[in-house]
Amino acid sequence: MSNILIVDSAATGESSVSRRLTRAAADILAVRYPEANIVLRDVGADPVPHLTERSVPAIRAGIVETEEGREALALSDALVEELKAADLLIIGAPMYNFGMPSTLKAWFDHVLRARLTFQYSESGPEGLLKGKKAIVIEARAGLYSEGPAAVMDHQEPHLRTLLGFMGIDDVTFVRVEKLAFGPEAADAAIAGALLAVEGLVGPELDLAA
Ligand SMILES: Cc1cc2nc3c(=O)[nH]c(=O)nc-3n(C[C@H](O)[C@H](O)[C@H](O)COP(=O)(O)O)c2cc1C
Repeated sequence: MSNILIVDSAATGESSVSRRLTRAAADILAVRYPEANIVLRDVGADPVPHLTERSVPAIRAGIVETEEGREALALSDALVEELKAADLLIIGAPMYNFGMPSTLKAWFDHVLRARLTFQYSESGPEGLLKGKKAIVIEARAGLYSEGPAAVMDHQEPHLRTLLGFMGIDDVTFVRVEKLAFGPEAADAAIAGALLAVEGLVGPELDLAA
């Protein structure tokens, strides 16, 4: 059976554009792959805690001295297992202040784990989650694909680095841009992104049987 993990991170509830697109992908995938196990992890609605001096030793070194540390390690282990099991990862990523939401960064802080999702060797770092596909839906008020604001895009390079560090380098970014450039521009951006999502998840995907 294929496993599909959808991580949402918008803080905007039902009005979220990125969530609308991840849901569209989930709906198509549920019909296309009725046997697939689709897991929804919404860190926008139900945030993963930020790291603290108690959770870092637990997550990074297995040193558990507090209840918070024990809970953080259990959550991190669960999130890593969820990610490791996924053949396809879909991330809903709004742009907040030129980067990803802190809720999504906190999720990455819990899944980038030495020896579990990456490792260092004499030849440098190596990602351990090879063979997965990822689709990242980026919702932005402005335009960053081209023009003067392109240098302000600290979202896509960061997401590409974090995924690539874990060995996930088959990543397709769907940009939903110009959402604040008026209703026509927003409608066109969302319609274009819906088509892109259909094109990505509609055809036969090479997922684990
Ligand atoms: C806290 C916050 C910060 C934002 N910062 C940016 C930004 O730096 N650049 C941008 O283009 N849009 C920015 N936006 C607009 C969002 O990217 C846009 O509304 C997008 O649709 C959010 O995704 P969502 O609809 O899934 O919530 C920001 C929105 C919020 C709520």
